Amino acid sequence: MPFIPLEDNFADVVAKAQRGLRITDEELLTRAEVPAEELVAIRAGKPRVAALRRIARHLRLSPDALETLATDAAYPRVPVFPRGFAFFNSPFGDMTVNNYLVWDAKTREAAVVDTGAEIDSLLGLVAAERLRVTCILLTHAHRDHVACLDQLCAATGADAWINEREVIDHPRVRRFSDQAYFHLGVIAIKCLPTGGHSPGQTTFYVQGLARPLALCGDALFSGSIGGSDTHFEEQVKSTRARIFSLPRQTVIGPGHGPLTTLAHEREHNPFFAPDRVARPVAGSTPSA
Ligand SMILES: [Fe+2]
Repeated sequence: MPFIPLEDNFADVVAKAQRGLRITDEELLTRAEVPAEELVAIRAGKPRVAALRRIARHLRLSPDALETLATDAAYPRVPVFPRGFAFFNSPFGDMTVNNYLVWDAKTREAAVVDTGAEIDSLLGLVAAERLRVTCILLTHAHRDHVACLDQLCAATGADAWINEREVIDHPRVRRFSDQAYFHLGVIAIKCLPTGGHSPGQTTFYVQGLARPLALCGDALFSGSIGGSDTHFEEQVKSTRARIFSLPRQTVIGPGHGPLTTLAHEREHNPFFAPDRVARPVAGSTPSA
């Protein structure tokens, strides 16, 4: 598996929080009492730690986690699954997108989660492991996550499934409701609603492998979240409620960037680490 960089750096995280909370540069500079040139430097990728810590408090971010992201970018370590799980990363335009294969080692039933932008590797593994793909589960309908839908349905014969609130028109796509289950032999996959990035964005929570696994699309990235300029607060809230309530040892499979664990994100994700300030008072200046 090649090294996959974090999807977002500290400047991306600041920009996503600022857009999501609709805080102008002027408001942020005034509230945080930071000179304008510091924000310009941060935008340019310069890790100005003191300014970042002051800004974090007004963007509901963890100052400690944002500083770590800016200075040594804690990279997640993830245990290896002995069987039943594979991770694929394929180029899509100027970025890459992840997709996944989950299977029951006994019955050989398999589910694909998101299509990726290239399916040869996945189909090769399906053939080598003599698997039968019974469903294609879609976290959401953004085009990078459904890029190979036609080819994948044709190659596997399986239908695709997506939350009923997602907007997509395709003859092979069927609908599920919040909290629905899919089963592959002894493996259960629960559909957790983690909307905000898109209306029906779903996290597939997989139980029955060596560790619990949450395949979360763009609800959560290692060190960041997927962008949402219109439903930012809903995204943070639903991700905290549905993903951060899962067992600590849960492995997280995001739509972009590396695999991670819930324990790592609890400590290092600026949107969810414990010292984030939930709701600073507008115009206030925290002492730290
Ligand atoms: Fe997306």
